Amino acid sequence: MSRLAADEAEILTIVVDPTFRGHRIGHRLLEAHFETLARRKAKIVFLEVDESNGPARNLYNRQGFMVVGRREAYYRNRDSSATAALVMRKALN
Ligand SMILES: CC(C)(COP(=O)(O)OP(=O)(O)OC[C@H]1O[C@@H](n2cnc3c(N)ncnc32)[C@H](O)[C@@H]1OP(=O)(O)O)[C@@H](O)C(=O)NCCC(=O)NCCS
Repeated sequence: MSRLAADEAEILTIVVDPTFRGHRIGHRLLEAHFETLARRKAKIVFLEVDESNGPARNLYNRQGFMVVGRREAYYRNRDSSATAALVMRKALN
């Protein structure tokens, strides 16, 4: 799920059923979504990801996103600790 304003898109969430994770569905969902966004004239995609979310960070790194910002103590965890949000950016071709 994403939102689009002018030529900038923001990915709000991506989720794969836990049973099917690790089978490149995340990669395929993102690639299909980038095609849709490009057709709608998006040029840049942003997102925020929890620094501690290894699978999501792997996915975004492999899809060409670069870290362009960091928001300290952005996510509050159940144990009341906090983790940073990384702001990531990717240019669409
Ligand atoms: C993030 C998510 C969408 C990835 O979906 P997926 O279908 O499992 O992803 P893929 O199989 O396409 O793999 C994406 C990358 O993550 C890696 N990965 C998958 N599971 C992993 C795990 N448990 N730990 C570390 N890396 C993992 C894969 O190896 C792959 O990296 P690679 O291309 O270098 O091999 C899925 O884990 C998910 O739904 N997580 C919960 C929701 C969430 O955190 N969404 C992101 C919010 S910003």
